[in-house]
Amino acid sequence: MNMSSLDIDYLLTTSDPVAVDNLYEQAAALRDSVYGHNIFLRGLIEISNHCRNNCLYCGIRRELKTQRYRLTKEQILDCCHTGHELGFRTFVLQGGEDAWFTDEVLCDWVAEIKRRFPDCAVTLSLGERGRESFRRLREAGADRYLLRHETADATHYARLHPSEMSFEHRMQCLRDLRDLGYQVGTGFMVGSPYQTLETLKKDLAFIADFRPEMVGIGPFIPATGTPFEQHSAGSIELTLRLIAILRLLLPNALLPATTALGTLHPTGRERAIAAGANVIMPNLSPQDTRALYSIYNNKLSTGSEAAETVADIRARLKAIGFETPVDRGDFKR
Ligand code: 5AD
Repeated sequence: MNMSSLDIDYLLTTSDPVAVDNLYEQAAALRDSVYGHNIFLRGLIEISNHCRNNCLYCGIRRELKTQRYRLTKEQILDCCHTGHELGFRTFVLQGGEDAWFTDEVLCDWVAEIKRRFPDCAVTLSLGERGRESFRRLREAGADRYLLRHETADATHYARLHPSEMSFEHRMQCLRDLRDLGYQVGTGFMVGSPYQTLETLKKDLAFIADFRPEMVGIGPFIPATGTPFEQHSAGSIELTLRLIAILRLLLPNALLPATTALGTLHPTGRERAIAAGANVIMPNLSPQDTRALYSIYNNKLSTGSEAAETVADIRARLKAIGFETPVDRGDFKR
């Protein structure tokens, strides 16, 4: 479906529960027609909470006095090993914009993961870099890159980020990644400060036009110590509606039921799946660093081992009729 064939205003604002249920059902049916009853798992490895940026919303922003960590190559490979045994075939290396991550370091890590786990996809989520850096990482074996655009409205972007960050550069990164042959993920927070129906419609129009392979959206959740700590969290309902609309716009997209949704509501992720999502990203990071990757308050990170978490997630999905295949879960053209 394209933007003009959907009444986005109505879908985002109606209080008619029947209309909303229809939206979710249509989205879920469309997902099933492309991917069947499959939910794809990605093993999330939070490799560093050092960050050069000072995004106003983020709990690991530069100015925040918090304990910083960075995983070693061995720790990362251990996480992959654990993940592989658990049936993961995608590893997502996510982190702040850490200056320590030179191209040499990252290319070595990516190449080593691909060498040891040739049946796996590697996704990077490490913020903005130059085109040449993206090119080298792709050559080293990286398959996918996640870089949320955060908002498609330049004025809104400037209210969420310090002036040294550029909306144009972020969009340029997305175009470069696409050009270089990555499967590209973009996305935004729902209910971020100063977001309006108009900025949300711009997000949807941008996504409908750019047609990313993945779109990650989750509610904004305030983070203590940030300029936005007093703002309220985004709405779960609105997030679910947006997931469903994204599914209608991009039937083949890989849409995660994000941790932020699970953080705000115990069955938030199941509800996202009922609304058309088809990816879950359990945390494979080492126990002792999980709490430090606190991009927002109360971020879900159970005390249990990755293995337990995954068994629990699989069981919960099975109970609502979904399989979790041992598969890279690539985008279907
Ligand atoms: N609430 C929700 N999501 C957040 N992110 C960063 N800070 C927050 C927050 N306070 C999201 C951003 C970023 C991704 C890694 O996490 O969209 O791109």
